[in-house]
Amino acid sequence: MLKVAHLQKSFNHKVVLEDASFDVQLGQVIHISGENGSGKSTIFKIIAKIIKPDAGQVQMTEDSVIGALIENPGFLEFESGLTNLKFLAQLNKRYDENKVKQLMTDFGLNPNSNRSVAKYSLGMRQKLGIIQAIMEEQNIILLDEPTRGLDQESLAHFVQLVNQLRSDNKLVVIASHDFQAGLKYDFKYRLKDGVLRSED
Ligand SMILES: Nc1ncnc2c1ncn2[C@@H]1O[C@H](COP(=O)(O)OP(=O)(O)OP(=O)(O)O)[C@@H](O)[C@H]1O
Ligand SMILES: [Mg+2]
Repeated sequence: MLKVAHLQKSFNHKVVLEDASFDVQLGQVIHISGENGSGKSTIFKIIAKIIKPDAGQVQMTEDSVIGALIENPGFLEFESGLTNLKFLAQLNKRYDENKVKQLMTDFGLNPNSNRSVAKYSLGMRQKLGIIQAIMEEQNIILLDEPTRGLDQESLAHFVQLVNQLRSDNKLVVIASHDFQAGLKYDFKYRLKDGVLRSED
């Protein structure tokens, strides 16, 4: 369960969030849309406790583990993709090398490649960012523009991955400008003028 209630956030007296609320459950896939600068990433940062809201609450069950891809994920540029994932996972000691290698392979990344992340394309970086958000059995997964730079084949794999997460009873919240063909969303929200509204 993830419940966000009446979030408010201003930056330098400019109101970005005026009232953002939603109440969603494990096993759901949620979509949040909104124009550039509407506050989508800000909501994710508040849920992931990167920043604090001025008002409002975020509640989740005690067993919640958040995985997040927000804006442009930072990596150790001169290390390989696998080394980066190993480093990120070891921060909370849930690293399972076989699982991480499998996730990379399934997404078209070679886990045995020594190519440094500095030489990764945008799409390859996105894949690494998606993998780090799901590789440790996180059950609340926040994906901010996850499909940026993904080619057709990778998009198809992304859809499959999200559907798998849903059947594994994870909650996936996707912020994006477009709806991903092949994905069924349980709830769609639109963020406009600081207010999050349910669509349909
Ligand atoms: N740390 C910050 N300091 C000042 N202003 C900020 C900060 N973070 C976000 N903002 C402002 O808050 C507003 C919302 O930004 P946010 O990144 O949440 O939008 P977004 O919906 O994710 O946009 P995009 O679709 O471009 O990713 C923008 O006007 C942005 O400039
Ligand atoms: Mg954003």
